[in-house]
Amino acid sequence: MKTKNRSLFSKLCKCYSKKDIPRRCENEDLHPDPTIEIRDACKDLVLSDDQLRLVMQKLTDEINRGLSRATHDDAIVKCFTTYVQDLPNGTEKGNFLALDLGGTNFRVLLITLDRQNFDMKSKIYAIPQSLMLGTGTQLFDHIAQCLALFVKDLNMQNEVLPLGFTFSFPLTQYGLTEGHLVRWTKGFNCSGVIGEDVVALLEEAISRRNDVKIDVCAILNDTTGTLMSCAWKNRNCRIGLIVGTGSNACYVEKTKNAQCAIPGNYSENKSHMLINTEWGAFGESGVLDFVITEFDRAIDENSINPTKQLFEKMISGMYMGELARLVLEKLVNAGLLFGGKCPSDLRNRGKFFTKYVSEIENDPKGRYTNCRDILAELGLRNVSDQDCENVRYVCSVVSRRAAHLVSAGIAALLNKMGEDNVTVGIDGSVYRFHPYFHDLMTAKISELQTYKFDLMLSEDGSGRGAALVAAVASQRR
Ligand code: BGC
Repeated sequence: MKTKNRSLFSKLCKCYSKKDIPRRCENEDLHPDPTIEIRDACKDLVLSDDQLRLVMQKLTDEINRGLSRATHDDAIVKCFTTYVQDLPNGTEKGNFLALDLGGTNFRVLLITLDRQNFDMKSKIYAIPQSLMLGTGTQLFDHIAQCLALFVKDLNMQNEVLPLGFTFSFPLTQYGLTEGHLVRWTKGFNCSGVIGEDVVALLEEAISRRNDVKIDVCAILNDTTGTLMSCAWKNRNCRIGLIVGTGSNACYVEKTKNAQCAIPGNYSENKSHMLINTEWGAFGESGVLDFVITEFDRAIDENSINPTKQLFEKMISGMYMGELARLVLEKLVNAGLLFGGKCPSDLRNRGKFFTKYVSEIENDPKGRYTNCRDILAELGLRNVSDQDCENVRYVCSVVSRRAAHLVSAGIAALLNKMGEDNVTVGIDGSVYRFHPYFHDLMTAKISELQTYKFDLMLSEDGSGRGAALVAAVASQRR
């Protein structure tokens, strides 16, 4: 297959022990298929290529509205300028700190770049839910505290350390070191931050402590970090994609098309600039209603940001498990699954984790070890093969739809860029850990458009990418 990425496959294999790798069963045909009733109940979640092509067209329209100065303010897919105009060239050197907020974990990292080598020390810190929903001051004081502890642990508190801040939420940027929060996503909702410059909030929290010396050189999105990290090794990387807790993509656009960038804050001599699409918001104007299902509506209504981030809610890891749970619950209620008997925890919101989807689909056809373990965790034992097959089908329908919607997004970007051999750098827990996501995307993107492309797992974009943006920026200074 032209875009098959062997190193990615071997990496994925490392994430699963050998016995977990899906194998085809000799007597596959003897094993049950999902029942017709189950297929019928899930049919709205199966998207045809025609529907996906319409999604591509609508997304392209929304991207153009985001880029154009006249329509940017009202646009849904904002296409924020990142002010990142230089990709790394492999000569970057030095010690850099990176902060990574907005994915599964909050991390502080020290990255040492030395041409094509790099060394990384990092620490994960918990962000309790009380902080995710508390005040902005509490959040930034916590971040500054973790940063100071980390630096002191390394005994580097007397050095001025350049820092790249990966802040994975929509920002209106006025340059590389000024970014105002547009909205919180992915379960965060801290008061007093929307509209504020998050670099200033971080700097204020650091100076309140006054015990470490930090020079914030850049603020960036995780998609930007992912692209930079991949571009460091692969000059063809032109798109950065995240399919993790949230979903978003950035891509290299001609500077002349980035009309919403503020003149004077970037170099007009550089032909290209990175655009952070913030495609998670796609659909908020109603243009995706033709594919939105009753399950998506339920997810949205019960979220902390109803009517917002609709495309993201159909794709990302924060919602995938819950989507599957809602479908399964409906099938039980209709008497189509488990003889109508609902496992106690399947009735509870949030109890069917996204990792279950990957684990269940990772069972080889005809064997249901992971599936039975998970159903037992939820409170149901002695489940028939047919029920297990039906559960697996529901998981596969939900994850396939996510992979196909992301593929429509990438196909739209490839058509917009109009170039062959674009590498897409990808990170995020769903892409990393789902057993077929990469292959599903490769196949669907090839069907939806004709440019040659490559999908590449980007190693730790949020950390290394932040260091690279900081390095390029501090070199320019
Ligand atoms: C945020 C994006 C981010 C994405 C992936 C979305 O919720 O709005 O800025 O890139 O999640 O982390």
